[in-house]
Amino acid sequence: MTDDAGKCWIDFDNTRGSVLLGHGDPQTAEAVARAATGSLGAATGWSPLLDTVVSRLLELCGGEVVGLFRTGTSAVRAAVLAVRETVGAPLVLSAGYHGYDPMWSPAKAPFEPNADGVVDFFFDLDALADLLRDRERVAAVVISPDHMHLSPRWYERARALLAAAAVPLIVDEVKVGLRYGPGLSTAHLLDADVWVAAKGIANGFPAAAVGGSRTLLKPLREISYTSFFEPTVLAAAERTLARVATGLPQRIVRETGDRFVEHARAALDGASLPVEVAGDGTFFQFVPATREVKKALYKAAEEEGLLFYRGDNQAVSAAFGPDVLADAQTRFTRVCDRLAPFAGAGPVGEDARYLAAWSVMDGLREAERDARQTREWVERLLDD
Ligand SMILES: Cc1ncc(COP(=O)(O)O)c(C=O)c1O
Repeated sequence: MTDDAGKCWIDFDNTRGSVLLGHGDPQTAEAVARAATGSLGAATGWSPLLDTVVSRLLELCGGEVVGLFRTGTSAVRAAVLAVRETVGAPLVLSAGYHGYDPMWSPAKAPFEPNADGVVDFFFDLDALADLLRDRERVAAVVISPDHMHLSPRWYERARALLAAAAVPLIVDEVKVGLRYGPGLSTAHLLDADVWVAAKGIANGFPAAAVGGSRTLLKPLREISYTSFFEPTVLAAAERTLARVATGLPQRIVRETGDRFVEHARAALDGASLPVEVAGDGTFFQFVPATREVKKALYKAAEEEGLLFYRGDNQAVSAAFGPDVLADAQTRFTRVCDRLAPFAGAGPVGEDARYLAAWSVMDGLREAERDARQTREWVERLLDD
């Protein structure tokens, strides 16, 4: 990307991880242009385009029914409220970020329900097990999966707990869905009754989807809104879903990202810098040892024209060809040169790892700890 001053940037933010194919992807742009001039139908009713998008979503993510929304926030909210209405119990147990809606506001005290009956268990499975003792009052569990700070073991245990409690599970795959492969990233890890996907659907265009059990999602039957049939969004979704269904863009992203991550880890290590890299080529995150290192890292990156999503997950797009990768690697080596004053200032400690995970997943990383330590970490990180 080139900014107004003519400076050239390499983008690892990619519209908060929603641009998978690359900015201005030619195939998407062409389909959107045709839709904008009316050749794919008007925005007044059902169309073959809408049917195609809906069928593709069901094919890729599973389920009996699917509903379309504009943002991840509205889709997750709709899914959770629908399931709660169907089940008829007051509480929702939650882990992770689900959007800006006030229904996700923190409670007065950790592990207590907030005003909307949402109890955050911050990804701590002992806390989840504890909360599930009150099973009769729980309508659903909603989890935003993360693959940087949670391992398959975490999912295995979560799956067992949920199966034993027989509580409906909503997976909020707004961020990760369709990015790790042509389907839900937790298809093999969890048994979701309802799923939500968004960032992987339309290459940055405003589309989100809820799918799953017809019974649980029944309250959404009549939901509609002004721009429901808007054809440019559907065109972007149709093109993007056709591409992600092949798994090819995700493979390119993973391989290119892996090569960048490998280079970044080696460069940081070679310069003895106190920064770890969590995750893999699909999504990765810098874990700086201190606030000073963090500030210096993002400043140096800015100077070198590497556009990172500050403190959050970094994501390459499928448009990163070999030249862009090589350029990004060279720039990152120069970032490490600029950080020379921090050489040997390590190591990266538990505090830094917990803080990084909290910044990206609004919860606790997977680690050994007892109930007292869990509470201490949550209180510290909420305060931060
Ligand atoms: C897991 C998750 N859920 C929900 C949302 C909210 O989506 P949106 O910003 O599209 O409203 C996000 C946004 O980053 C997200 O990462």
